[in-house]
Amino acid sequence: MSEIKVIQADYSHLIEKVKDEVIAWRRYFHKYPELSFQEEKTSQFIFETLESFGNLILSRPTKTSVMARLIGPHPGKVLAIRADIDALPIQEENSLSYSSENPGVMHACGHDGHAAMLLGTAKVLSSLQHQIKGEIRFLFQHGEELAPGGAQEMVRAGVMDGVDLVIGTHLWSPLETGKIGVSSGPLMASPDTFSITVTGLGGHAGLPHQTVDAIAIGAQVVSNLQHIVSRNVDPLDSVVLSITKFLGGTAMNIIPNSVEIAGTVRHFNTELRANIREWMERIVKGITEAHGASYQFTYWDGVDPVVNDEKVARVIEETVRELWGEHAVAQAKPNMGAEDFSAFLKEAPGAFFFTGSGNRELGTDFPHHHPRFNIDESALSNGVSMFVHAAFKLLD
Ligand code: NI
Repeated sequence: MSEIKVIQADYSHLIEKVKDEVIAWRRYFHKYPELSFQEEKTSQFIFETLESFGNLILSRPTKTSVMARLIGPHPGKVLAIRADIDALPIQEENSLSYSSENPGVMHACGHDGHAAMLLGTAKVLSSLQHQIKGEIRFLFQHGEELAPGGAQEMVRAGVMDGVDLVIGTHLWSPLETGKIGVSSGPLMASPDTFSITVTGLGGHAGLPHQTVDAIAIGAQVVSNLQHIVSRNVDPLDSVVLSITKFLGGTAMNIIPNSVEIAGTVRHFNTELRANIREWMERIVKGITEAHGASYQFTYWDGVDPVVNDEKVARVIEETVRELWGEHAVAQAKPNMGAEDFSAFLKEAPGAFFFTGSGNRELGTDFPHHHPRFNIDESALSNGVSMFVHAAFKLLD
């Protein structure tokens, strides 16, 4: 038997001991959800709970985030582990003993579980301080759900200074409990956004020749923008361009003066961004000018894509295999969702992985951001176990 397996057995015992506490923390967060950048009680609870563990150096990088540093007696690398802690503006439709008591606000993405798992990890690892080589930094991040996100604020506050490696996870309802989704390379996309105003000349619907019809022109803008992904982008690059808003008009007999169009562009290659912006503006300009209208075009760069480091991803995968065997390893498919974890990855190599929490029997397979979203709480100790074991492997 290898030494690693002996050590792992010991950690599993410690994880078993914090299991119930992690569930209780998660339920507390779930009951009292707070929106992005307003995580006051949540961060206070995290701070006080961390304080009770001992061995940690605590700070508040921003008003509603928390950082805990665990410095070992042996020299070594610095590993950061991140959890996001914010909730969403959704009215919960679950009837649970710990359902949200904050009307219109809900932990519908699993960040309650993320915060609880990182607390559990900090409790276990702080009790093993004597074994730590280097340092482990626990980052409880505010405001993940609201662009441009809290991660970059924390980075600006210096939480990544001196960090060599960074890891994080997302509880994942499309993946069944017991499985961990890992992959190297691109995992989550960059979510750029845009807004277009087409201004024509409003007037009577029965006298279109006296107007410049912003609706007809706006419709052409929408259909011509579809050419970008189908005709301009290399088919081997993944890009999504979705129009999500088309607003204009007030009545059946009035041609409105202007329409408002907005949407999102998702991609994994930030070098494409400048081209896409240029192609879009060329179309908007060409179409509106051709019909005698004018336009306003604004494009906002989203957070960077999440791109996993190959070596760190391999360590995560090995950890899963050693803990539960080959059947627990799931290949994470890249998706067009976004995560501001990328701001931490910009500072140090690392990996983001998915912790399966879907269980049809328990009804925890609703999609993220659904009013009936919930997690299989047995996934929480899997997440803690991943963090604890991966931390030792990465610092070795
Ligand atoms: Ni989320």
